Amino acid sequence: MEATLDQASRHDTARQSFEIHPLGPVLGAEVTGLDLAKPVSDADVQRIRQAYRDHHVLVFRSQRISPAQQVAFSRRFGPLQKHVLHQFALAGHPEVMIISNIRENGAPIGLGDAGHYWHSDLSYAEKPSLGSLLHAQELPSEGGDTLFANQHAAYEALPEPLRQRLAGLQAEHSYLAKYEELRARNPWRPALSQEQIEQVRPVVHPVVRTHPETGRKALFVSEHFTTRIVGLSDGESRALLEELFAFSTRPEFVYRHVWRPHDMVFWDNRSVLHLAAGTPDHLRRKLYRTTIEGDTPF
Ligand code: SIN
Repeated sequence: MEATLDQASRHDTARQSFEIHPLGPVLGAEVTGLDLAKPVSDADVQRIRQAYRDHHVLVFRSQRISPAQQVAFSRRFGPLQKHVLHQFALAGHPEVMIISNIRENGAPIGLGDAGHYWHSDLSYAEKPSLGSLLHAQELPSEGGDTLFANQHAAYEALPEPLRQRLAGLQAEHSYLAKYEELRARNPWRPALSQEQIEQVRPVVHPVVRTHPETGRKALFVSEHFTTRIVGLSDGESRALLEELFAFSTRPEFVYRHVWRPHDMVFWDNRSVLHLAAGTPDHLRRKLYRTTIEGDTPF
């Protein structure tokens, strides 16, 4: 992360006075008193980076910021990624993806079923996301929560023989793994063009990755995108993945985020998996997501 800070522009502005409070024993911290609509100094970004390393998910309360301000803040942590489903980019902001179940004139305004399965954003890319920022625009009166599972805690809690078995294993990740299944359920999902399919060729990453800043190990497989473990038979691979999917999302590793108006949540995709718990169809939900490019997992 320090390397990306060096690449980011310098902001020698005044520090803001803000507080960081843990949200619970598993992961997460709440940041209050920081206004992301104002300039954020390099010193404040350093403090945020430390909290991010410590807590993996940061909840910035009461952020009345524009999409351009979300993009600018996100860029302080590295270059941004554009999602392959460019159909759901916010007009004028190709790095902002609309996550929404709202339809206008019969057409979806955003990706309505994003996060239906546990995943780490863009794990199917050569350089998966360092982190993602999701800013609440419109929230339902019930439902719509987002769950986060701590993959360092999950790895550390694995039985020792299983940890040893995972050492050195690699797994394939594919954006297409569940695409047709989701499309059958939600026919509004666009058919992918050949160009889009070529953008998301399967990749291979370690089953256990090392966080590049803290050195902590984390499980790095997910039910959404991980298709197989390299070198195992189909049956062995499926059995091991099912075991890991179930273990990694056990309730003791999970923080449930109940959204408040104007929340912006910033999570570390190298440390957590996340899941959208679902919104009743008759209620509207809309959020804007930016994703920051990370490095190649090791
Ligand atoms: C996502 O997976 O990025 C979306 C999560 C959510 O909508 O809660």
